[in-house]
Amino acid sequence: MQDKIEQLKSKLAQAFADIHSSESLFQTKMKYLGKTGEISELMKGMRDIPKEERPEAGKIINALRAWAEEKFADLDRTLKEIELNKQYKKEAVDVTLPGNRQPSGAYHPNTLVRRELISIFSGMGFTVFEGPEIETDYYNFTALNTPKDHPARDMQDTFYITDDLLLRTQTSAGQIRVMEKCKPPIKILSPGKVYRSDDDATHSPMFSQMEGLVVDKGITLCDLKGMLDEFARKIFGEGVKTRLRPSYFPFTEPSVEVDVSCFECGGKGCRLCKGTGWIEVLGAGMVNRHVLEGCGVDPEEYSGFAFGMGIERIAMLKYGINNMKLLFEGDVRFLKQFKG
Ligand code: DAH
Repeated sequence: MQDKIEQLKSKLAQAFADIHSSESLFQTKMKYLGKTGEISELMKGMRDIPKEERPEAGKIINALRAWAEEKFADLDRTLKEIELNKQYKKEAVDVTLPGNRQPSGAYHPNTLVRRELISIFSGMGFTVFEGPEIETDYYNFTALNTPKDHPARDMQDTFYITDDLLLRTQTSAGQIRVMEKCKPPIKILSPGKVYRSDDDATHSPMFSQMEGLVVDKGITLCDLKGMLDEFARKIFGEGVKTRLRPSYFPFTEPSVEVDVSCFECGGKGCRLCKGTGWIEVLGAGMVNRHVLEGCGVDPEEYSGFAFGMGIERIAMLKYGINNMKLLFEGDVRFLKQFKG
């Protein structure tokens, strides 16, 4: 027995020397310590040993097993460390190397304008309210002083969903929702998509508007004019002025159309302003008292102004875009020109 053990020990010593990877360590371990491994077999062979020698033999075999197990464990630790270091070396990243530049996209001109408008008006104390795109007839028209038989409904070709539900044609609908919910003073901006059955070089069935509403005690048309001047300077450049022309909207009285002095020619007259020196940019006015009353705001105590502009229109003017379709086609060659 002792001989057998010695033989096995030297075989094992040789086997240890031949192990160079976790894989071969595993296999060798199985060969000796596995269920049918040589050391396990030795244990099984105890049956053939005379009874009185068994305890001694058992001790020797167990000592051998313990010795082998410890050796395997030592070797396993060493190999694992070597292998891990190899892997670290292979995967090492030189953080001082220059990185690969990720090409960045560009914001859509609409997004640029919407953000700029929000930033300009937030600077004047406006907060943003976004209403729903599917509106009721009431919010889109009736509450805006445009009941069912009102001729002004013809100004906007409406997509109706049901008799009472429609795709909003104007962000003005948001005014009503805000006035119903909040008490004056009110100063909100309402950007969003609107829909009209319209389609040509300057019209799209879906486009974006930005609505503004201010309601407080003592608000006058002068406040509107002052705010518009500030807006025009900021968005189109210093020196740009505004002028108000009388107009008609059912929800404002008086109503005005707002022009800015042509930022291309400075007002002398050019192709952009069609020789007039002025460019129309938005509609506005003093909130009609019927609209205030309908929302539970006392027109004897409060007054307000409202304005609404087309975001695509502002983007086209600001960036010199001559066809509205370019804003909806998603052509990367067009869009990447707006990279900041
Ligand atoms: N809602 C109008 C439109 O879509 C624009 C507008 C005009 C909004 C005058 C207003 C306003 O708030 O006071 O044509």
